[in-house]
Amino acid sequence: MESGQKSRAMFERAKRVMPRGVTSNFRYWGEDKTLVVKKAKGAYLWDQDDKRFIDYRLGFGPVILGHGNEKVLSRAKEALEIGNTFAMTSEYEISVAEKITKLAGVDLVRYANSGTEATMHAIRVARAFTGRNKVLKFEGCYHGFHDYTLWNCYPPIPGAGYRRSPVLVAHGSGIPHLIGQLVISVPYNDEDLLEKRVKENWGDIACIIVEPLMGNTASIMPKKGYLQFIRKLCDQYGIIMIMDEVKTGFRIAKGGAQEYFKVKADLVTYAKAMGNGFPVAAFCGKKEIMGEIGPLKIPHGGTYTGNAVSTAAADATLEEIASGALKKVDRHGQKLMEGIKKIIDRQGVPAIVHGPPSMFGIVFSDKEEITEYRDWAASDHDTYEKVIQKLHDKGVMPDFDSREPWFISSAHSDGDADVALQAFEEALKEVL
Ligand SMILES: Cc1ncc(COP(=O)(O)O)c(C=O)c1O
Repeated sequence: MESGQKSRAMFERAKRVMPRGVTSNFRYWGEDKTLVVKKAKGAYLWDQDDKRFIDYRLGFGPVILGHGNEKVLSRAKEALEIGNTFAMTSEYEISVAEKITKLAGVDLVRYANSGTEATMHAIRVARAFTGRNKVLKFEGCYHGFHDYTLWNCYPPIPGAGYRRSPVLVAHGSGIPHLIGQLVISVPYNDEDLLEKRVKENWGDIACIIVEPLMGNTASIMPKKGYLQFIRKLCDQYGIIMIMDEVKTGFRIAKGGAQEYFKVKADLVTYAKAMGNGFPVAAFCGKKEIMGEIGPLKIPHGGTYTGNAVSTAAADATLEEIASGALKKVDRHGQKLMEGIKKIIDRQGVPAIVHGPPSMFGIVFSDKEEITEYRDWAASDHDTYEKVIQKLHDKGVMPDFDSREPWFISSAHSDGDADVALQAFEEALKEVL
């Protein structure tokens, strides 16, 4: 879709003051297509030309209760009345930490302002606790914009080499190659390769950081027992297991992936759904590890961490999640997944629709299952993008990038699903 006149004019204005006219590279969709938003409410988003979209991007996932949820807004407004940044503990922080410990079964909580910060701090804690430096991560997993993990997130294939011994590829320039010496990368869902690399390097490995499902590669699911296998290896070799729940936390279940997959990590990171779009994040975990954070021991801080408005928003969001908001999210996602699968089958297109209903992925591929980044990389992105382009024309907005799941909120209605499914069927037919 070509953006409309007002969006275009606003984009030109943005480009004069911001590189590519955006504040995150992921938001740049090209010169003709990049939209400028005007407002969003509930399940909908409007661009500068007042074109309305059913929003299945939800700001890359956070807006679990819908845009401008009244309960969240009113709690945030209440917080504004008392001030925002104190560099002191406030009651909202305590209340949210209590809710997180209850919902997610973690012992202790520290705040951050973004998922990037949360994983950065968690890795530091793991390094400090173990006295080791290396980080093991998986191809196709993304953990934010710090240098420690911006490796083999979306490496070019074949540039990333043979899957048994992947070449480490930085996510662009400016990431010191020396830091790459502290990173080990293996394909997801391959127990043998993982065990081999751990056995070779365990004395240097501080942590294995893993997305419990590949929320940054089309919601590829872990094979049965895979996360438990990581847990076992970590126990065996004294490695800290960090589960990066920035996308899955308080979304795929009240207790996130730990509850959904029945596995307990040592440290867990949360952001997105915990604040319904307000900038708030946390890293949490076991008392024997998190309890070591403190002056002269393990550093952590941040001027804005735990600010009143963000933690108040998180307080209200987690309250809604605790009272069952995810049931509606799952129902809508299930309806969409089943509907999309039927449409795809009717059209005879080889494709896979997988993942949890609240954040499912679609991969156009004739493989029986998609289990790692390289499977996704070999899939038909071109057709996917064309379908998405048509969907945007019809006012339905999942992300262009097929790595990005379809995110569902509790504000999406049954009627929205009907509209989205009809648009999907038309879009697919038109592209085929
Ligand atoms: C799994 C995961 N970890 C970390 C991050 C980084 O979070 P943020 O964009 O809030 O820095 C993301 C962002 O999408 C993510 O999906």
